[in-house]
Amino acid sequence: MVKSEMAESEVEVIHSWSAPRSLSTSLMYSFAQRDDIEVLDEPLYAYFLRVTGLDRPYREELLSKMESDGNKVTSDIIFGPGRKKYRFCKHISKQRLQGLTGDLMKKGKHFILIRNPLDILPSFDKVVPPSFYELGLAELVCIYNELREIGKAPPVIDAAELQQDPEATLRGLCDDLEIPFQPAMLKWEAGPKEIDGLWAPWWYKTVHKSTGFEKPRKYPEPFPFSLYDLLEQSLPLYNMLQRHVKKKSSLLSSPLPTPDLPVPANEKLLAWVGDEIMPRDSAKVSVFDSVVQGGDSVWEGLRVYNGKIFKLEEHLDRLFDSAKALAFENVPNRDEIKEAIFRTLIRNGMFDNSHIRLSLTRGKKVSSGMSPAFNLYGCTLIVLAEWKPPVYDNTRGIVLVTATTRRNSPNNLDSKIHHNNLLNNILAKIEGNNAKADDAIMLDQDGYLSETNATNIFVVKKGRVLTPHADYCLPGITRATVMDLVVKEQIILEERRISLSEVHTADEVWTTGTMGELSPVVKVDGRIISNGEVGAITRRLQAAYKKLTEESGIPIPTYVKT
Ligand SMILES: Cc1ncc(COP(=O)(O)O)c(C=O)c1O
Repeated sequence: MVKSEMAESEVEVIHSWSAPRSLSTSLMYSFAQRDDIEVLDEPLYAYFLRVTGLDRPYREELLSKMESDGNKVTSDIIFGPGRKKYRFCKHISKQRLQGLTGDLMKKGKHFILIRNPLDILPSFDKVVPPSFYELGLAELVCIYNELREIGKAPPVIDAAELQQDPEATLRGLCDDLEIPFQPAMLKWEAGPKEIDGLWAPWWYKTVHKSTGFEKPRKYPEPFPFSLYDLLEQSLPLYNMLQRHVKKKSSLLSSPLPTPDLPVPANEKLLAWVGDEIMPRDSAKVSVFDSVVQGGDSVWEGLRVYNGKIFKLEEHLDRLFDSAKALAFENVPNRDEIKEAIFRTLIRNGMFDNSHIRLSLTRGKKVSSGMSPAFNLYGCTLIVLAEWKPPVYDNTRGIVLVTATTRRNSPNNLDSKIHHNNLLNNILAKIEGNNAKADDAIMLDQDGYLSETNATNIFVVKKGRVLTPHADYCLPGITRATVMDLVVKEQIILEERRISLSEVHTADEVWTTGTMGELSPVVKVDGRIISNGEVGAITRRLQAAYKKLTEESGIPIPTYVKT
């Protein structure tokens, strides 16, 4: 039976939604090559021009030749009977105006095609001056959300993917739409086509030269900076949709799969950056920030127990001391920092079992460079709160190895400054990781014990508790707390130089830190500590520490114990 003789029947509609200049016409040509699909080029265009009154050079001609009643278009043309199994409708998002029948969204299969505004804007500008409204990216986000809300979350593909790897992208899209891929979709003939809308002479000059999805030019044209504001407004909307693209291409080597988070609940958290609270993926510092330029920042790790922040004042004291030692200027005051911490915790509903990474950077610079003279914006405050149970196995104990990397001495960088320039510790941590240990012991210049890459260290020998002087190590707040507890428990405490062989032959060893609390050490450099079990003094101090965290701390406003 020839095509024209085939009876018309109900067709399944595939809706393509995109901003303009997003390769949507190429994609329509691609689908038009299939033997089971007929295509429609922007069926709602006349409706859109009539209702909005927008001017176009072809406005009158279009209104006289194309149906401009949106609901009629939807029922009779988009969902009207046809001769093929499927009908592909290319829609531009802004053409979906309020008042259209809900069927448009409810019926058929939908997908979203996005393109980086960095590419859309210069391309659109060649035909009509772009505006935020003309781009329709806000409407595209609305369409995505509406479809999701009615249980039809649409697949999202990126034009960059179509250009980089058309076959894989089209195969993926066909899979998502549950239609078989057809190789014919990869090629079409150049020149104007019957299926083109009558606006084609204005808009399709470039696409008429194409015979398939072509790789983008390696080096694009300079971006027209008159469109800079529009770019800034549009990018967040593009980025929002981009998160839903399954396969992402990148200039850099092949992107890694999305990793699992240690605590999945942290996928959706809110962080304080500067003076606002942002969702995890949007919480970013400027490329001009001192922490990026030189690790020029100070920090604290704090823990939240039972609606209270443990040792908050002590951590803030150390933060301010670190900032003063580094000659930071325009530092927020104590109350401001406390408020930022409280608000972040409250917004996240984090009142227990949480850890706060509090950073204060020297701030954004007016130009890249080392000199603090460029820091004219004031410091940047970051409050990153996460759900985080203690990170070490405090029941069975941890394993340490000694690193060859020495802990910084006050000769070069004083460890009393709790700064973000952590490479000294990171090098030691790499040694620990390579040895499959939990952390690495760092020695001072003379080979005496200092601390681990992340915690302070204590040793018990014949009933006496020993810990190194805070010359090379960070004077930890947990260290000070545990030293107080040792005294309270009436155990002898000595702060002195400790050599490595004293660690290897100790009766008990433990580390301290806010993140991991008191962690028993059962093996160091392959030597089992005592009998490899958690020692009695360690257990006593763990219990005393637990009691203290339950009882003390600065209450978080609004917290009500349930
Ligand atoms: C190198 C180093 N040592 C020790 C500690 C433990 O300090 P605190 O007990 O104040 O958390 C930390 C924590 O930041 C650290 O980075």
